[in-house]
This record gives sequence, structure tokens and C-alpha cells, in this order.
Amino acid sequence: MEQNIILIGFMGSGKTTNGRRLARKLNMDFIDTDSLIEEKNKISIEEIFKRYGEKYFRKLENETILSLSNCKSKVISTGGGIILNHRNIDILKENGIVILLESSVDNICNNLKNSYKKRPLIQKKNWKEDVRILMKERKELYENSADITVNVDGKKHNQIVNEICCIIKERA
Ligand code: S3P
Repeated sequence: MEQNIILIGFMGSGKTTNGRRLARKLNMDFIDTDSLIEEKNKISIEEIFKRYGEKYFRKLENETILSLSNCKSKVISTGGGIILNHRNIDILKENGIVILLESSVDNICNNLKNSYKKRPLIQKKNWKEDVRILMKERKELYENSADITVNVDGKKHNQIVNEICCIIKERA
């Protein structure tokens, strides 16, 4: 498969875990844009936000997407805020199919509670409220950016990955 498969969705929707599994199953390379940003800049996402702020992070995020514009046959997991800049989505769509991992706020909060990854945008004591607010702000952007939507609520990883594989095969 020449086209990239791009996973978008809110923090904690399972983009990285499912992306890695999907890549393994389809024998494709896996790229995680947050990890790429950290590797290229030799600094953690948390530290970027702390030292330079969100705006600077978004700039690095966009540069990273641009650097991927010629890549093929990759499964790409993106950061949850990738949809905030429509140019990111335009670039990714040139060479790939964008799949939204859709999830309820409750499911997301549950996943985030058990996550090892530090997320600078939801560090406050009432972080669940911030998840709710952010989701409300972004929901439409996620929906409008997606070629395909897969709801992940209550599903196991292998079920999600199989579902994505079926959809992709149907479209091929
Ligand atoms: C962000 C999501 C994070 C990371 C950064 C900002 C967001 O990635 O890029 O903390 O704005 O939703 P995950 O979606 O992998 O948590």
C-alpha cells in the first residue's frame, strides 16, 4: 500500500498503541509525530510546552508534518492537536487516508487516568473538565478532517485494528 494511514483523535483515544499494532499487522513502518518532534529537537513535549509554550510547539508540529510530506507506506499517529492547523491535514491528505479514532469523554478520561504520558494541556486538578472543554472545541475539527471515523469506545485494540484493516481493504 503506497498511501499512508494517518490516525487522528483526541489525547488518549489510542492513536499510538493502535497505530503501532496496525503497522505491524500491515507490515508498514510506524511513525509517531510526537516522538519525532522529541527526537528531532532532543527535548520532551512536556519541556517544550514548559519552556517555550504551546504556540512554539504547534510550529514544531507543523514543521514535522511538512517533513513527512513525501513519505509513503507509513502508519502515522499524530498528536491530538494536529487538526488545529488545517494545513497539517491538507499535507497529510495529499498522500494518505485520515482515520479518526472517535471516543467519548468518559472513555478518554479513563484512558488518560492510566496513561504514563504527560500531557501539558490537561495538568490541572480539574483536568477532566478541561478534557470536556477541549473536546467540545475540537469535535467538529476532528470530524471534518477525517476520511473515515472508527468509534473505539469499549473495543479492544485488536478489534480496532481489524476494523481499520477491513475498511482499508474495502477501499483498495
Ligand atoms: C496534544 C496532544 C498530545 C501532544 C501535546 C498536545 C493536544 O499528543 O501532542 O501534548 O493538543 O491534544 P497525544 O494526542 O498523543 O496525547
